[in-house]
Amino acid sequence: MSEVRRERWNTRLGFILAAVGSAVGLGNIWRFPYLTAEYGGAAFVVVYIFMLFLIGMPVMVAEFILGRSAKKSPVQALSQPGENNWSGLGYLFVLTGLGILSYYSVIAGWALRYSLESLRGYLLNVSPGDYFAEIHSGFDALLYHFVFIAITTGIVLGGVKKGIERAVKILIPLLVALIIGLGIWAFFQAGAYEGYSFYLQPDLEAMFETYTLNLFGMSVSFPFLALGLLGAAGGQTFFTLSLGMGAMITYASYLPGNDDLMKKTIIVSFYDVGIALLSGLMIFPIIFSFGLESEIAESPLGTLFMAIPEAFSQVENPYWGGFLSFVFFFCLLLAALTSAVSLLEVVTSSLMDELNMKRQPAAAAGGFACLLAGVPAALSLGWLDVADQIAGSFLLLLGGFFLAIYVGWLMKGTLDELTHGLEWNLVVAPWHFLIRYIVPVALLALLTNFVWDFSLQLWEWLGGL
Ligand code: PFF
Repeated sequence: MSEVRRERWNTRLGFILAAVGSAVGLGNIWRFPYLTAEYGGAAFVVVYIFMLFLIGMPVMVAEFILGRSAKKSPVQALSQPGENNWSGLGYLFVLTGLGILSYYSVIAGWALRYSLESLRGYLLNVSPGDYFAEIHSGFDALLYHFVFIAITTGIVLGGVKKGIERAVKILIPLLVALIIGLGIWAFFQAGAYEGYSFYLQPDLEAMFETYTLNLFGMSVSFPFLALGLLGAAGGQTFFTLSLGMGAMITYASYLPGNDDLMKKTIIVSFYDVGIALLSGLMIFPIIFSFGLESEIAESPLGTLFMAIPEAFSQVENPYWGGFLSFVFFFCLLLAALTSAVSLLEVVTSSLMDELNMKRQPAAAAGGFACLLAGVPAALSLGWLDVADQIAGSFLLLLGGFFLAIYVGWLMKGTLDELTHGLEWNLVVAPWHFLIRYIVPVALLALLTNFVWDFSLQLWEWLGGL
């Protein structure tokens, strides 16, 4: 078989920005604030950061190790000669990628539409709730989903250096600058302080629950971290760091052999948390300054799309309000675009490696599959919500669990690969312990919790029929 030379990142910074671009997305600006609001403000932030260290970063290191050592897309990386054949896990990754992109691009399509409508001043003159109800599904949602996928495919078609790396080098700095700008504006609003204190003070009641165990006729009650909060924080860690579906494996497969993978993990995670925290610093003051705190807890999915335009429509100068609203939704769009690129890259590179396809037809075929896969989410908000729970939480945790087993227990030469280019060898043993024991146990617990919760939801739903 003729080996086509594998593409490479042009620079180290290019890889870092692409990985940050994958991590920073709707998860930071849309999902993180609403989960924070739902689970008691800073209580959620504390647990989430803890999970990040305990399970998120170790899995990212594992993905980087696998990708860099195999220099292949996930399906082939998991079926290397001389190793166990786990290609099934690779296929699961591709399926999860398609599943996430199928609804991710619908939400990104809303963001695209909202930024255009803000620019022309229309958005601020309508009732945000009615407007959202009108555009979130049906033909309009389909159209913008198509346009978003077309833009994403355009970038992936350009290849690793000329498409992805070039795009993220412009888009990520722009995104950071815009979020900081909006954060500074929000700081000067009247209710900013209330927003910050909701966001930064842990609500201990939301953080702990009292559980009762019945043992031999005796009942024992004890406080422990709320399971709902733990599950949400675990799912968010995987979603926000783009773990459990091969995106980081694919990006690491374009790395040369001698970079410090641990350092890269720390940098990418630091940026990802930083941007999520910054988004909170921007959103909560806006929500509280304009008295919209009840809205954020009511409808998690539509929160930003209803509360934010309402806030900006109250800004005294309507042109300024329109501009700010444009900047906000444009940020959401940029963040979504760089993540969607990584999702589509997983599908594209798998088609290239598996079917020996060239990049252009592979990217076009992947984009087309995403167009079709997104149709149900564009037609139904209920479907979108379920797809987010299944692909965006459950399948990522499941993928992460099997990946930890594979890299931690089965793959040969894992530690050698990690130590290539590593500056600080002291971290190897703690990482190995985490990936072998802590990560699988924690993920199994999170998966069990998810299945239990989901069955209860299903039961309730069936009972309501
Ligand atoms: N990390 C992205 C976000 O926070 O929006 C979502 C995502 C991208 C998840 C890529 C998984 C993935 F592979």
